[in-house]
Amino acid sequence: MEKLVIEGGQRLQGTIRASGAKNAALPIMIATLLAPGEHRLTNLPELADVSSTLSLLGRMGCPSLVGDSTKIDTTRIAFNEAPYDVVRKMRASVLVLGPMLARQGEARVSLPGGCAIGVRPIDQHLKGLEALGAKFELKGGYIHGTAGRLRGADITLDFPTVGGTENIIMAAVLAEGTTHLRNAAREPEVVDLCNFLTTLGAQIEGAGTDVITIEGVTRLTPASRPYPICPDRIETGTWLCAAAITGGDIEITDTDPAQLTDVLTKLQEAGCTITTSGTSIRCQGPETLRPFELTTEPYPGFPTDMQAQLMVLATLANGESTVTEKIFENRFMHVPELCRMGARIDAQGNVATIEGVPTLTGAAVMASDLRASAALVLAGLSAQGLTEVLRIYHLDRGYEHLVDKLKGVGARIARISDAVREESVMLAALDA
Ligand code: UD1
Repeated sequence: MEKLVIEGGQRLQGTIRASGAKNAALPIMIATLLAPGEHRLTNLPELADVSSTLSLLGRMGCPSLVGDSTKIDTTRIAFNEAPYDVVRKMRASVLVLGPMLARQGEARVSLPGGCAIGVRPIDQHLKGLEALGAKFELKGGYIHGTAGRLRGADITLDFPTVGGTENIIMAAVLAEGTTHLRNAAREPEVVDLCNFLTTLGAQIEGAGTDVITIEGVTRLTPASRPYPICPDRIETGTWLCAAAITGGDIEITDTDPAQLTDVLTKLQEAGCTITTSGTSIRCQGPETLRPFELTTEPYPGFPTDMQAQLMVLATLANGESTVTEKIFENRFMHVPELCRMGARIDAQGNVATIEGVPTLTGAAVMASDLRASAALVLAGLSAQGLTEVLRIYHLDRGYEHLVDKLKGVGARIARISDAVREESVMLAALDA
């Protein structure tokens, strides 16, 4: 396996282009199942989760051809199943339930089970799909869903779950009659999915608000033009934090400032100078970061996927910050690793209190989820000495061309075999 080696202390400066959003790409790729034929998607990021989704579609009988415009052919579906070995790697596979029940009247999906950031049940997905007429049974670790033609319904979610909202929308677009989905997730990725479905002929109103109304149609057809995936707001926010933590100056292009309002406000509170224009955001980090209070919330509140990255900024602020995680249980896995780098963090339940320190020091660290790993990279960029970030496969799931992007703004970072232990070899890799 490989690891990242980072020599911290460089002031990062330059421009980074935002990639397409992973969390929009995955549901949109799965939504192609709804309309038989050839689909084309652009701005699809090169990520492990995108490859896993394409291989899942391939296993179901829908081949794809990756390129600047990726083609997915959903003319025929040969198997109505998302098997365990795919779902285990990527929970988003559960999103095949909605489209498969709508198009095939049947879906078998391995139960995702627990994962590093909490239990993550899918009860709201099932509740919504049942309201549309699907029936479910659990057999051998698989959820087996069956349905005749789905019928529109009035559904109120207990919590505005992102995946649940997406699954229910994808089922309702082919249902008979009208569906009102209340307390729906308002995330930009839900809006992007709805925009994509609209290009296939779906009739959806209210995307981006908490009530989404769907008028079912009898069939959907692939669009004649390629569909561009929206920019990744979490990747954008992560690179803005890289500027913030190194006292640097980074401009992110091809992004959407309107999707990051809460993150930008928090960066300003921390002392950063933020300038936005059209599709770009520039962040100039301060000499000394200021402490702040942060609570994660469903969109448009502060995103849980940026919590770990902001916490790293707090570790270097001149005072005490608090971070409250309200979306997921057990999402503080970066805390012990950051403490090993010299951070002073006291995590009790879902609240972390962070006492800023003047500097972090490099260490070998590892995390068991994607955003926690990103936080460790940020910590490494500012730390004194060498940081090794292990279990790099988490980062491969969500950050396209991470090493090249950070090198492009002046970071000393390299990807090497995790068998390498000698400092001289690691330093040589940084110079290569
Ligand atoms: C999506 C994102 C993920 C992000 C999360 C919250 C994708 C592929 N992933 O995940 O990066 O961190 O939104 O913004 O888009 N819940 C239930 N029952 C359900 C569904 C969810 O209790 O049926 C709970 C979960 O356990 C969790 C919370 O709701 O505590 C949020 O989950 P959800 O919004 O569904 O997140 P995902 O769609 O899994």
